[in-house]
Amino acid sequence: MAPKSHSLLGSFPAIGVAVSLLLLLFVNPISCGGHDYQDALRKSILFFEGQRSGRLPPDQRVKWRRDSALHDGFSVGKDLTGGYYDAGDNIKFGFPMAFTTTLLSWGIIDFGRNMGPELKNAVKAVKWATDYLLKVTTVPGVVFVQVGDAYSDHNCWERPEDMDTIRTVYKIDGSHPGSDVAGETAAALAAASIVFRSREPAYSRLLLDRAVRVFEFADTHRGAYSSSLHSAVCPFYCDVNGYQDELLWGAAWLHKASRRRQYREYIVKNEVVLHAGDTINEFGWDNKHAGINVLISKEVLMGKADYFESFKRNADDFICSLLPGISHPQVHYSPGGLIFKAGGSNMQHVTSLSFLLLAYSNYLSHANKVVPCGETTASPALLKQLAQRQVDYILGDNPMRMSYMVGYGERYPQRIHHRGSSLPSVQAHPAHIGCKAGSRYFLSPNPNPNVHVGAVVGGPNVSDAFPDSRPFFQESEPTTYINAPLVGLLAYFSAHS
Ligand SMILES: *[C@@H]1O[C@H](CO)[C@@H](O)[C@H](O)[C@H]1NC(C)=O
Repeated sequence: MAPKSHSLLGSFPAIGVAVSLLLLLFVNPISCGGHDYQDALRKSILFFEGQRSGRLPPDQRVKWRRDSALHDGFSVGKDLTGGYYDAGDNIKFGFPMAFTTTLLSWGIIDFGRNMGPELKNAVKAVKWATDYLLKVTTVPGVVFVQVGDAYSDHNCWERPEDMDTIRTVYKIDGSHPGSDVAGETAAALAAASIVFRSREPAYSRLLLDRAVRVFEFADTHRGAYSSSLHSAVCPFYCDVNGYQDELLWGAAWLHKASRRRQYREYIVKNEVVLHAGDTINEFGWDNKHAGINVLISKEVLMGKADYFESFKRNADDFICSLLPGISHPQVHYSPGGLIFKAGGSNMQHVTSLSFLLLAYSNYLSHANKVVPCGETTASPALLKQLAQRQVDYILGDNPMRMSYMVGYGERYPQRIHHRGSSLPSVQAHPAHIGCKAGSRYFLSPNPNPNVHVGAVVGGPNVSDAFPDSRPFFQESEPTTYINAPLVGLLAYFSAHS
């Protein structure tokens, strides 16, 4: 089962308390000493190899995986092999895959210089996605947005290598629009074009040209894919929040990647129409608002984009909403200090919001600015501290004293909700394991045989407790969009601590 996000409407922050004082109460009481961020960085990227679909390359490092889903797309006369499984199942959901790609790219753009020898692996992780996103956008006016029937898949506990579930191909087109998934796909292609700009100029141009075309399609044929493809994508990755944010998000990335005036004008013109100021405290595969505001604010902070001033106000308000211990808390923190939002798979919020804290902190530092929050201010150093505290919680500084990244530290989740990890590998058990034959592995109390190194799970509940049990998928399932923002965070802290 793929986790759903939950949209919580944020209200305007009213802060009248000295944040620095309150932070004293919030400083981590259970620190286990410094973390090996470099090791965690390497593992966070390695995780993506375990999520690969399609024909695996000779340099594949995750050896318990084999080729899978080699006929994806054939039913519609296309080669749609490759890409990533989103989580612990074997579906290729285009919407979260594109978001994952955008965030991995953003991490490389802002923190690639801190990645050292891992940079090349991070770039490969992006390319595994963009090669697929190029395949699904080959036909003008069409985007293939999902491969696999989620009900059929979720009814089985099967290795991807054994899959015999229904691999239906779902698409959007002019008469079945999906501005959400197409907008996010355009954002991903545009962001990745920046990653490849100097590394592979021809590939970068291909990505950017495709992003331009996909965005135009998304904008011309407006609508939500959760209407067009409701029974296929809901409740799995239903776009609850609407498609307007993805149009602005796509335009923001196209603006950054192409510097074309038309995207700047689009953003300014559509800011109100597309509700840029709504739900500014959210950021995830469904809701892009906080990300849009932080991304665009960089230009305001660099002093050359006054026409984007309102985005910076929204970004400032968002940042204020994350300060812990204020009198009107906007974001809930668990007793152990973890950002917590309802709806399951909480770590997705932790990593994506922390990424924005860190990215914004860097933009502020370069501009020598702070965030005004009512009677107090938040400095770039404070934002970095808050982000680091979240990362440290993930890595083990928490009441359970366990790392929520598989394979990092001494104690980590043993029974993650992940088909490939929990079933014996093809090497260990070459014979086919059928749909229902996998159930005994799902229900087994034993640890997963294949350690999915680098996988960060949904994480503890609101009381900092963690069941470490496969059926508790909201806590024990890893996803690509939990890890994607974490890569940039770990890169930064590996170079600055
Ligand atoms: C959190 O999980 C623990 C252990 O599984 C459980 O006892 C507790 O009731 C849960 N708390 C909430 C609020 O769900």
